[in-house]
Amino acid sequence: MQAKTIDGKALSARIRAEIAEKTEKLFNETGIRPGLGVILVGENPASVSYVTAKEKACAESGMVSRDIRLPADAGQDALTAEIRKLNADPSIHGILVQLPLPQGYDERATIAAIAPEKDVDGFTPVNAGKMLIGEDCFLPCTPHGIIKLLEFAGVETQGRHAVVVGRSNIVGKPVALLLARKGKNANATVTICHTGTPDLARFTREADIVIAAAGRPKTITGDMLKPGAAVVDVGVNRIPDATRQRGWRLEGDCDFESCSKTASCITPVPGGVGPMTITMLLWNTLESAARAARRA
Ligand code: GUN
Repeated sequence: MQAKTIDGKALSARIRAEIAEKTEKLFNETGIRPGLGVILVGENPASVSYVTAKEKACAESGMVSRDIRLPADAGQDALTAEIRKLNADPSIHGILVQLPLPQGYDERATIAAIAPEKDVDGFTPVNAGKMLIGEDCFLPCTPHGIIKLLEFAGVETQGRHAVVVGRSNIVGKPVALLLARKGKNANATVTICHTGTPDLARFTREADIVIAAAGRPKTITGDMLKPGAAVVDVGVNRIPDATRQRGWRLEGDCDFESCSKTASCITPVPGGVGPMTITMLLWNTLESAARAARRA
């Protein structure tokens, strides 16, 4: 079997076109242009590249992005002060603090400082809690993008067994919750595996759907999959590669070659989950601006 590649770029382009249209409509009807405040602390190369991609996507969708760059040694107080300014700014509807933060910053306190109604990452305790109990909230972007990708690929989740590999707050835990929700594109039986799971393959071989979010290349190989499984690769690992001009290449958490011989469909890296994360961020920012317009 040769797995079908799930084209995250194509799905992103389709959804972004819809977002751009709705953004224009909102502006024409209310005079409100969605604004996203993006804070980057330090110069982690991967973070710089994510943030640049987010800012470009914002502009392409007709949104405004406010880019705040702080040096790695700016300190927690300076970071919190920038968040508070964005919280109070009516032209800003979404706030994103790029993670991970450099050493010395308190990630929990930073996230908690973001106003929940502008938390388009869905990371604040208020949003995370609302998602847990099934209240309306901003869904975290990568997990939401994964659900959209599965739907796009025609992967049935209802009654199927999904194995999530990774328990991060950004991906593993929230995607497990979304897959287990009652409703469309959900209702799966979910197992969460992590670094404390002995014999990972024992679980992944039982899975109809594998979500690989471990942050380690080749965590999943073809022999660990049930034939016909659907595979979503969330990994973004920079592998040193002297044959590339920039000196590295991107690899996911799955060994694409062997996995694509056993799976029925698989997301590539790059071009799978990555573009969808940014797309769902735009989606949340537009939604936040629309809510602000309704309150005005
Ligand atoms: N770092 C990796 N993924 C994300 C994300 O979705 N949002 C933020 N803020 N930081 C990240």
